[in-house]
Amino acid sequence: MFNKMKLWKTSKDQDGQDDRISQILAHPIPDHVAIIMDGNGRWAKKRTLPRIAGHHEGMKTVKKVTKAANKLGIKILTLYAFSTENWKRPKTEVDYLMKLPEQFLNSFLPELIEENVKVSTMGDMDQLPVSTRRAVDHAKEKTKNNDGLILNFALNYGSRSEIIDAIKHLATDVKKGIISEEDIDNECFSTYLMTKSLKDPDLLIRTSGEVRLSNFMLWQLAYTELYFMDVLWPDFSEEHLFEAVESFQKRSRRYGGLLGEEIQ
Ligand code: FPP
Repeated sequence: MFNKMKLWKTSKDQDGQDDRISQILAHPIPDHVAIIMDGNGRWAKKRTLPRIAGHHEGMKTVKKVTKAANKLGIKILTLYAFSTENWKRPKTEVDYLMKLPEQFLNSFLPELIEENVKVSTMGDMDQLPVSTRRAVDHAKEKTKNNDGLILNFALNYGSRSEIIDAIKHLATDVKKGIISEEDIDNECFSTYLMTKSLKDPDLLIRTSGEVRLSNFMLWQLAYTELYFMDVLWPDFSEEHLFEAVESFQKRSRRYGGLLGEEIQ
């Protein structure tokens, strides 16, 4: 009975939660939050469950975090769901990971539509199983006119191959005279990346205690605030997102320059 009672939030808890959200909303909210969702395997291992059980629980966390991001008015949430390196995992695990977007969208798409969320992806979709692609394309189509949170899944994504593809495409355009060498700058190059219409992330979160970027958005993260957390992805909650955003709000972003008060 005691445990059950703890599952429900008392009105006092809810008031505390509302106060916390109001406090957060009183300060600048990162427009674009990117997350490296790590630790599903370790979460499962701790419970002597198969790794796929960790991924399944991780999918449930994606739902919770999407709702929390929406609450804060975050504009873009990019989630690293499958990297180009993840194909090296055992086939059963890869097969399961490939089914997750479909499972997620089957149960959550109506809510995404209702919440004005727009589904988008970055990565090479051509290599994904047809049913995964179909589910993702369907979700994109159904949410294409939504103008709330952009829920951007990095699926079969790798930053180095994204950059190499961009360079090849750019070189072709230079050869064809579509663009001249002098016009190539940061802004121009960014338009050749998979994130072309998205602003760079303001905040990157990586869970599970690992402190590396794992080939994720290497160009786009140049001036992003980084936040590494010890929590395993299936245990990541709304409160953890709030904590990361609160940390972001305490940082002073200089983009390599100085802040007004630092200039003598
Ligand atoms: C890394 O943890 C996680 C992944 C490779 C997969 C992430 C996928 C999800 C969280 C679900 C995605 C959901 C949708 C809707 C697409 P790991 O397995 O490497 O964990 P470990 O380091 O503890 O082994």
